[in-house]
Amino acid sequence: MADRNYVLNADFFRDYPRIAGGKGIYMYTEDGTEIIDGASGPVLVSLGHGIEEIADAMRDQAVKLAFAHRDDCVTPVLEESCATFHEASDGDLVKTFQVAGGSEANEIAIKLVRNYHLVRGNAGKYKILARWQSYHGSSMGVLSLSGFTKRRAGYEPYLFEHGHIAPCYCYRCWFGGEPETCGLQCAQALENEILAQGPETVAGFIAEPISGMSLCAAEPHPAYFKEIRRICDKYDVALIMDEVMTGFGRTGKMFAYKHYGIVPDMVVTGKAVSGGYFPLAAVSVTQRFYDGLYENKGDFTPGYSWSGNPLGAATQLAAYRYLKKHGLVENCRVMGDYLKRRIEEIAPRHPTFGDVRGKGLMVGVELVRDRSSKESFPAGDKFALQINREALKENMIIESSSGCNRGQAGDALVISPAFVIQRDEVDKIVERLDRVVTTVEKRNGIGR
Ligand SMILES: Cc1ncc(COP(=O)(O)O)c(C=O)c1O
Repeated sequence: MADRNYVLNADFFRDYPRIAGGKGIYMYTEDGTEIIDGASGPVLVSLGHGIEEIADAMRDQAVKLAFAHRDDCVTPVLEESCATFHEASDGDLVKTFQVAGGSEANEIAIKLVRNYHLVRGNAGKYKILARWQSYHGSSMGVLSLSGFTKRRAGYEPYLFEHGHIAPCYCYRCWFGGEPETCGLQCAQALENEILAQGPETVAGFIAEPISGMSLCAAEPHPAYFKEIRRICDKYDVALIMDEVMTGFGRTGKMFAYKHYGIVPDMVVTGKAVSGGYFPLAAVSVTQRFYDGLYENKGDFTPGYSWSGNPLGAATQLAAYRYLKKHGLVENCRVMGDYLKRRIEEIAPRHPTFGDVRGKGLMVGVELVRDRSSKESFPAGDKFALQINREALKENMIIESSSGCNRGQAGDALVISPAFVIQRDEVDKIVERLDRVVTTVEKRNGIGR
């Protein structure tokens, strides 16, 4: 251990690259080595590194007013920022509460749902149902909702259990179905769970529109969320869409729920909401939900010290303007399609590529030992992590994950560069990925 390293690193024994700067999809080490940030951090730095106009907006706001407390006052910049959620959702979302991170935002979402039922006289409704193979954050409340076995491991004694249903995961359908003949048993599972627990006890259901790191960009069946919406309506269960990873453009639409022809009751955003320039996340609600919340009480007092701060709002505004000015949601769609197609092109020469999936600039590759049987690598092989480490030797960062096969084995990658990426940069990522995977496959005695 280095004597003068006072950082509590994730891996105490790892020699991390020392990053000193960044521009666009690139980061630079202290000695000037260029590294492709093919992951955007944890799928976060959506607009790329080093955008001066966002930095300028942050500086201007910090000088003008860095902080004001939502309990005492409201700032014009926060009002302006919250209005962009209304605009970005084509009017679906009417009220927004800003906080400092995705976990915090989902905690607030739970409390909003609870308040919604309390003020309407349904005190018995308190349970929030969720799915296995999901991720909603790491604080204990939202880790309880998260069905990400590996991230829960060890902390179970602190978690509550309101009920988890099977994921919508067509590559490894938990019900043995095939997409073409699917009867949407994974959605029916929600109705069964609500009925089994008693509809009078169930307050909400939370889901990612496209799975994040637990299933590495697995898309739901196209009809899944329509059925989920119908079930939630039938039992007065609030539908919370966790768009912390997908919101503000990554999937080629401003919000991923727009792909499915439904409107949730609540949308939670984070990461791209500030372009990656400030710790910021938000919970936004529809008019119908807000009206319910408002009915007999008209307040919502929970929050955090940093909630609704003007510096975050100014950063969000600058990021949103940049996103729109440069047509980056559309670029996500176009470059995402291209990235996926390029990965599909190299897939036949990689026997470990079991499934290439995702939407926009969130492309997942599930890695298998045997493509026809879909057999996963033993968890101990850390196959995806081997690729992540080998990629770094080629000066590229990509996300790796494990546990997608029912929380136990199952390796996958996510390639999720910043929205500013161009075709030649996509090519560069895919060429490096191709080389890296060949090396790792060979090392594991696979393929040519
Ligand atoms: C879908 C989803 N929800 C919530 C979170 C938690 O956000 P944060 O890490 O900002 O607390 C994440 C983080 O990766 C996420 O992907």
